Parts: sequence; C-alpha cells; structure tokens
Amino acid sequence: MTNLHKPKSISTGKRLLVIGGTSDIGRAVADAYAAKGWGVALAARDVERARRNADDIQTRHGTDHVSVHPIDILDTASFDAFIDSLGALPDSIVCVVGMLGDQPRAQGDPDHATAIIRTNFEGPALLLEALAGRLAARGDGLIVGVSSVAGDRGRASNYVYGASKAGFSAYLSGLRNRLSQTDVRVVTVKPGFVRTSMTEGMDLPGALTAAPEAVAQRILGLQTGNANVVYVLSAWRLIMGIIRALPEPIFKRLKL
Ligand SMILES: NC(=O)c1ccc[n+]([C@@H]2O[C@H](COP(=O)([O-])OP(=O)(O)OC[C@H]3O[C@@H](n4cnc5c(N)ncnc54)[C@H](OP(=O)(O)O)[C@@H]3O)[C@@H](O)[C@H]2O)c1
Repeated sequence: MTNLHKPKSISTGKRLLVIGGTSDIGRAVADAYAAKGWGVALAARDVERARRNADDIQTRHGTDHVSVHPIDILDTASFDAFIDSLGALPDSIVCVVGMLGDQPRAQGDPDHATAIIRTNFEGPALLLEALAGRLAARGDGLIVGVSSVAGDRGRASNYVYGASKAGFSAYLSGLRNRLSQTDVRVVTVKPGFVRTSMTEGMDLPGALTAAPEAVAQRILGLQTGNANVVYVLSAWRLIMGIIRALPEPIFKRLKL
C-alpha cells in the first residue's frame, strides 16, 4: 500500500498563527513551520480555501495540529473575539494580509483607496496591537509583519499601496521599540518581488524576485537571532537605499 503521508513531524508543542492563511506567502510559511513540528492556525476570510490549505499541510506533514479561524481584517471590532477563539495564545505570529489594489483606480475612487489603506495598515496594525498586548502580558513571543519595499519611498506607480505599507512599517518599528525590553520580538519583513497571485501576470525581473518558499524560509529563520528589518533579497536593501537617497528634483524626473 502506498503511504501518501510523510512521516509525522515531531511536535515542538509550539504554535504559529498565520494572519492571511490563503496568501501564497502565508501558505508557504505555514508549510515551513509545520515541517518543523509546529502547530499552525490559519486565519483567513475565505475559510474554505484556508481549510484546503490546512488539509494539504496536514497531509504533507502528518500533523493534526492545523486549525482554521475566520477573520476579516477590516472588521476591527471583531479582533478581541477572534483572539479569544484561538484558544491558546500562539508562540509566533506572521501577518501577511495585504492588498495591492490599482493605483490609477485609487486616485479617482476613494472607496478603493480606503480599502487598500485599511487592508495593509489599519487592520494589520490594530490586530497586531491587540495580540502584542497579550504576548507582552505572557512575557514572550515573535511577531512578524510582512510589509514591502514599496513603503520605503512613495512612487507615482503605487503610492497608495506604498503609503499604507509605510504606515505598517512605521507601526512595526514603534511596536518593536516599545517591546524591546521584553522577550516579545517584532520583525519587519520586506520581500521585494515575490511570485504569487498578487503579482500574477507582471513581468518581474528574475534576479529581484523570490519564490514564496524562499520568503517562508527567511521567516522560519527568524526564530533565532535578533533581526529587526529583513530584506529577503539583500539587493533590495541596496536598491531602496539608493532610491531613498535620490534628491527630490531627480526623483521627480524618474518614472518609478
Ligand atoms: N507578492 C509580492 O511581490 C509581494 C511583495 C512585497 C510584499 N508583499 C506582501 O506580502 C503579503 C502576502 O501577499 P501575497 O503575495 O502572498 O499575495 P496574496 O496571495 O494576494 O495574499 C494576500 C492575502 O491577504 C488576504 N486579505 C486581503 N484582504 C483581506 C481581508 N479584508 N481580510 C482578511 N484577509 C484579507 C487575502 O485573502 P483572500 O485570499 O481572501 O483574498 C490573502 O490571503 C501581503 O501583505 C503583500 O502586500 C507581497
């Protein structure tokens, strides 16, 4: 008889919460942690798709410790009840919720712009704030926020998304600063380009584009060390350093 299941990974007894359990990066992160014996809670608004991801992870790693929890990141009033529904507080949290949106549309459609800003900034910041308070009360934990290099400097081509990610990066920086004397660590991850449904159909430069699995391995690696802000591909740190340093008169002439 063919055994379709991998040998059961040895349980660490630890639990990861992925906020955005249907995201391509989020699914890869959940898979990477489950492979190391972590239990995984997938939070998503599309519970059916998250359940399929959970079933896949259970099959691949022979673990029973995968759960699915409904969350709409725009429903900020539900956050305390959402956290209560998790049962045990997670050891680590990775927030990958995001919305690229359409920049030209956002310029003329305030509702679309609001959705981008709330999805990338308001919702994740308020949910992580509620979770951070509970981790701080317990005394330890890791919070990983997936932000974007787009937040490093506003550019004409995607400044509504970029501004919302800049807000999220600033939020994570402040939270990290506030919790720096505790054992709750806060890490900002800037993936650069990643091949996911968010970038489907885009012509991405291979050397600057990561696979979701590579992002997941970097996030798994954050369990040790003392990283604060991570550029998944180091070339992006250099590129964005240059873009940030460009004087406005030059920057305005560039079509970025
Ligand atoms: N792909 C890239 O090149 C890239 C680069 C830099 C940063 N990032 C960031 O990486 C993160 C993950 O993105 P991805 O590439 O994996 O794209 P993705 O597959 O489109 O993931 C986005 C996730 O956000 C969720 N989401 C959106 N609105 C939500 C809401 N109101 N409530 C709950 N969940 C909501 C989506 O849920 P549904 O499935 O229900 O829509 C999906 O799970 C995002 O924060 C993104 O900004 C991506």
